[in-house]
Amino acid sequence: MVAMQQEIQRVALSDAKILITGESGVGKELVAMSVHAQSERSERPFITVNCAGLPETLLESELFGHVKGSFTGAYRDKPGMLEKADEGTIFLDEIGEMSLRMQGMLLRFLETGELQKVGADRVGRRIDVRVIAATNRALSEMVAQGLFREDLFYRINVINIHVPPLRERRDDIPLLVDHFFENMGRNNGNRPQVSPEAYVALAEYPWPGNVRELANVIERILVSGAGPTIGADDIPIEIRTQRSISLRPKRERRRTVADDLLKRMTVNHESFWTAVYPLYMQREITRGHLRELVSKGLEEAKGNYKIVTKLFNMEPGDYKRFLNFLRKHDCQLPFRDYR
Ligand SMILES: Nc1ncnc2c1ncn2[C@@H]1O[C@H](COP(=O)(O)OP(=O)(O)O)[C@@H](O)[C@H]1O
Ligand SMILES: [Mg+2]
Repeated sequence: MVAMQQEIQRVALSDAKILITGESGVGKELVAMSVHAQSERSERPFITVNCAGLPETLLESELFGHVKGSFTGAYRDKPGMLEKADEGTIFLDEIGEMSLRMQGMLLRFLETGELQKVGADRVGRRIDVRVIAATNRALSEMVAQGLFREDLFYRINVINIHVPPLRERRDDIPLLVDHFFENMGRNNGNRPQVSPEAYVALAEYPWPGNVRELANVIERILVSGAGPTIGADDIPIEIRTQRSISLRPKRERRRTVADDLLKRMTVNHESFWTAVYPLYMQREITRGHLRELVSKGLEEAKGNYKIVTKLFNMEPGDYKRFLNFLRKHDCQLPFRDYR
């Protein structure tokens, strides 16, 4: 985290576009806010636009604004978020979810700095914003699949800040636990004592939902009326019992590896090609793990490999490549066993 603070400081003043990558809940928005706060634009607005939350036409008018009468319900001129963020920073969250058409419009804005409002017959004024974008998707892969424009990718990815998942920076967990107990507690400043066993349980859980999930768990502990000391018993049972792979005894370990990988794909929306494939090719997981993962997928998908492809967060077009890969490595389990 200290390394990240330094990186943020270093890039904050440059005014270059930044792409923040990392799983959901790792703190990407917080990083963006922190860049803005340390930049020369800090006195000007920081505006977040969630590109995943809105249908395309609404997102267009949200970003660029619209003129009165441009569509049903457009009773008056409305400034867009880009205009509101003038001289400040715009944070485009979940940019990987933007449609190709919107990507084109955003690219044109980035190239010219000129605002084209919905329904306006001429180009509007120039806007000066710093753009910070974030995504939990592998944008370079989306580029390869034709789902994300390559020219836009290079334009927004001038500086890349990757925020690692919480399970890869376990040293941060006790600090965050203390931080949340301190800030969420009702009797301000009088935070509960956390026992070593409780810290250990919290530090060993894999946190698929990252810091957001950790904050929620601390809040749950607080509202469930824990006393002045937090013991292992106060930690929710599913947190205590689900420990990370490396800490498991060997016999159970295999099961958890497959579970963990499955979760990365189903909960964190990582693709099989990024979450599993490289680990297997680098022999960090065995054929046994892979077969077990396939078996779990088939179980869930009732023997339908097409659904397994979806479940493992691949594009429908990857189906053939996936099956070829499994066949080649002797991991194509007979689907009939799962019907
Ligand atoms: N280092 C941190 N310290 C305190 N809270 C954090 C930290 N990182 C993330 N959070 C909190 O976790 C939640 C998720 O963070 P957010 O920035 O929204 O993640 P993301 O945008 O990557 O999904 C927010 O409530 C945020 O305040
Ligand atoms: Mg977010």
